Amino acid sequence: MAVNKMLLPDVSLVRFASSEGAISDPGLCNAPGLLEKLTTCGGLTVGKMNGTSEAIIDLLKGWPNPALLPVAQIKTASSIALSTPEISTPALLYGPDVGYEPLRECIANWLTQFYQPPTPIPAERICITGGASQNVACILQVFSDPIYTRNVWMVSPTYFLAMRIFEDSGFHGRLRSVPEDEQGVDIEYLRKALRKSEEKAIAEGNTKPTLKPVRPWSKIYRHFIYAVPTFSNPSSITMSLERRQQLVRLAREYDACIIADDVYDQLQWPASTTAAQSSTEHAILPRIVDIDRTLDGGTDRKGADGFGNAVSNGTFSKIVGPGCRTGWSEGTKKFAWGNSQVGSTRSGGAPSQLTSTFMSNLLESGDLQRHIFQTLQPTYARRYRIMMAAIEEYLIPLGVTLPQTSRDMVGGYFIWLTLPKPLSAKGVAMLAKKDGNLVIAPGNIFAVTSDKKPAGLSRQVRVCFSWEQEEILAEGIRRLGWVISSIQTSRGHHKKVKTRPPGDIGSLVDQYR
Ligand SMILES: Cc1ncc(COP(=O)(O)O)c(C=O)c1O
Repeated sequence: MAVNKMLLPDVSLVRFASSEGAISDPGLCNAPGLLEKLTTCGGLTVGKMNGTSEAIIDLLKGWPNPALLPVAQIKTASSIALSTPEISTPALLYGPDVGYEPLRECIANWLTQFYQPPTPIPAERICITGGASQNVACILQVFSDPIYTRNVWMVSPTYFLAMRIFEDSGFHGRLRSVPEDEQGVDIEYLRKALRKSEEKAIAEGNTKPTLKPVRPWSKIYRHFIYAVPTFSNPSSITMSLERRQQLVRLAREYDACIIADDVYDQLQWPASTTAAQSSTEHAILPRIVDIDRTLDGGTDRKGADGFGNAVSNGTFSKIVGPGCRTGWSEGTKKFAWGNSQVGSTRSGGAPSQLTSTFMSNLLESGDLQRHIFQTLQPTYARRYRIMMAAIEEYLIPLGVTLPQTSRDMVGGYFIWLTLPKPLSAKGVAMLAKKDGNLVIAPGNIFAVTSDKKPAGLSRQVRVCFSWEQEEILAEGIRRLGWVISSIQTSRGHHKKVKTRPPGDIGSLVDQYR
């Protein structure tokens, strides 16, 4: 077998320092247990490669590197809040349902600056939340009915941890995937599927909500659509303007609410250092909620109910730190108010009241904007480019491909790779972990749970450049290249491979192909 022995370490992992946190959730993925097997604590885990100690490289974990947490700024913001009675008193008491008013105003101004909509965003469109994940649950509690609401349409591949939130709200078995292409969500696929779903509901007599009482602050939507339109997790794809507009029109036609997790929008930078430098201080595209606000008469057009058909789900997790558990939603005034009237908020006021006062100070002082523009964007840009250079060197020659290669602006936390045929992402991920001390996310974990045969995800992998130390990102990609090339090299040598002793990579090749 023409495999370089120097490149084929017999690896046995010797110690796992601790288990992975929130991202390790095999319960809902289509490969039960696989994710659990793959996840480790990045940076802390020690493995062995050919007898030498070799750190595990974790390119699965979607967390910010601890060096990027704005600790000093939060210390200042919290100290100001807690030493100023006019702030500390409301901060430590129950707050208003819609959230801490100064933060709503700061967010409205900051979003106006960043997205530059035709008219300023008023604070009444903003509802303070406990972060993007928590708020999906709140939206569903107010605006969905487990029977009348027919389906949740998830752009696939999807942010896998969102699936349990929908299932917890009664949508088990009714999550449906909608494929995306180079422009984003496949509108024609969704249109046909929505029509079919409607026909079925009508045939079953499912014509009005039964489980939720009529409430003046809410409405029940017939469908939900879940998307990460910009720098998507996991596919990194940014949905085009045209698709965003088409999606809004379709949502209006079918009484659907689009939940757009706009959580990576600010983390953007030019794809290459040589391309024309456009400003990273403004969004490249309007959000879906911005389009809904203005398109064809907007949310106040004749005959519309004023709730709108889109909500932007924002969070400070990616730009401050996930431990803040603070975010915001933006929708129409009616939607934002309805969002705030969820039972768990009515009892006690908006979540994250104390942290809201810190976030408000960060925005008011400009510390957060400076942190994004002067630290996060350049650091993530550097990390991204290091990884892309390594992908060019080690993976592209092996036949690996990437989506949306002609984009000027890129961003987020992730790069999405398609492996050459006939490799299996699951197999490559297992082998990378076992013999390469490398953790990556195979595409199948991002498949929508009710999809029997997840389309197009068996050869995809997601790699993350936000978590690991910058210095080892390229080494992680080099190891991935080694695993891929080892499998490719051994193809056609099945008999010989099978006779190799356990622990040698050759014995694993067939199993993981
Ligand atoms: C698309 C998407 N939505 C939501 C979240 C989680 O946001 P939060 O920490 O505000 O719950 C993540 C985190 O990885 C994400 O990628």
